Formats: sequence, C-alpha cells, structure tokens
Amino acid sequence: MSIFDEIDLWGKTEGKRLFAPLLNVPGPVILDYGCGMGSYTFALAHAFGPDCTVYAVDTNRRALDYIKGKAEAGNMRCVSAVAGREDFRQEFDDGTFDLILYSDLFHGEEKIYGGLHRFVMLEEAQRTLKRGGILAVLPFHLSNFRDKAGKKCRYTYRKLTDEICGYGFEHMNIEAWGVHFEKAYSPYYQQKGGLSLDELERGRLLVFRKPQAARGGTGRG
Ligand SMILES: C[S@@+](CC[C@H](N)C(=O)[O-])C[C@H]1O[C@@H](n2cnc3c(N)ncnc32)[C@H](O)[C@@H]1O
Repeated sequence: MSIFDEIDLWGKTEGKRLFAPLLNVPGPVILDYGCGMGSYTFALAHAFGPDCTVYAVDTNRRALDYIKGKAEAGNMRCVSAVAGREDFRQEFDDGTFDLILYSDLFHGEEKIYGGLHRFVMLEEAQRTLKRGGILAVLPFHLSNFRDKAGKKCRYTYRKLTDEICGYGFEHMNIEAWGVHFEKAYSPYYQQKGGLSLDELERGRLLVFRKPQAARGGTGRG
C-alpha cells in the first residue's frame, strides 16, 4: 500500500476518530486552514459526514486542485477548496465556523509575514468561530517558533496553550494526537523510496473553545 493509500485509510479510521468527539452539532461548518494536500480535510469530512461543510483553504493552487479532484472523484460534495490570502486573513464572515483546524502552520520563518502570521491567525479564529466553536491546533517544529517581535523562540505545548488562551480561548483538556504529514509529500523522501505512515511523527492536538459569552481576550495580556 502506498503512503497516500495509507493516509486515505487513516482519514477514514484514526483521523475520523480524532475529530468526531470534538463536535456534536448538526451540519457543522469547518475550516481546514492551510490545508496542504488535504490529509486533514478528508479526515474532517469523514468525521462529520455528508451534512457538514469543510472549507479547505490554501494559497497553493496545486494543493487546491488536488483536493478538488479528490473530492469530485469520491463524490464528497461537503468539501470546498478555496484560495487563501497571502496575509493570512480570512474572507469568511464573523461567527461562520463550528470548528477551525490549524495543523502544522504556527512555526514561523521571518520571510513568512515576519514570522507573525500565527498571531493574525489567532485573531481570525476568534473572529470567524461561532460562540462555543472549537479551535484545534496541531503544532509541529516547536523549536522553530517566533515570538511577537518575530524573534526565534523555543516553544512548549504549555507556552503555546497559554498564548492561545490569551486570545480569549478556553483550553479543553483532551488527550489527542495527530500526524505530521509533511514528509509524506516531500520530494526528498519520495526520491529516497518514500515512507510509511508509521514512520511519520505524531504530535499533540491542542483543543480550545471560544467561550459562549463574550470575553475580552486580546492576546496582549
Ligand atoms: C506545512 S503545510 C501544512 C499542511 C496541512 N495543514 C497538514 O498539516 O498536513 C503548510 C501549508 O500552509 C499553506 N500556506 C502558506 N501560507 C498560507 C496562507 N497565507 N494562507 C493559507 N495557506 C497558506 C502552504 O501552502 C502549505 O500547504
């Protein structure tokens, strides 16, 4: 079985089980922001079924075409591939989403928006989530994060959790682990003969809720 078949199977099994317990609302609206090749997009679609809507957003046209083709081939009409903005702002209205996923996006290089895109993304999550909505963050490369001044700064899960809570989110104490899919799509590893799913790194999924009542989280505290 190729790693891509393994990833498909993961989405229908382990990936589905990872996300399904996070929400219990009819027809949820979901954002997989910076979706890449959609490993999580399809897991989310399997977790919430044909009545959900999963917006897969990325700036990479090739990734969006791949997801579109895969959704059409699988007759998964709940998946919509949407072009993202370079400035990490979203085109969606306030209070649109029941669930937002940010997977493997928060580490920063200076050339990516001064390394500060994470803070824009947290503001946008606070804006576009419904009250009571879920923000799921799967961080990798924690040693390669940047602080608010754009300076490289080693993070821990605790430090990142505190930072996200500073944006007005409540941390939910859920034990869940996701997969770092990046290497599966890397030409370097493909040329070396590829990898299997078992060889990919696992990381903690940090889960937060936007409170039901308004709260003044600014991220500056
Ligand atoms: C490391 S990949 C993560 C892919 C996926 N989330 C996963 O975990 O497998 C980062 C993705 O973010 C996308 N990206 C970079 N800048 C973006 C932006 N401004 N808006 C949306 N996506 C962006 C890249 O094109 C890439 O697909």
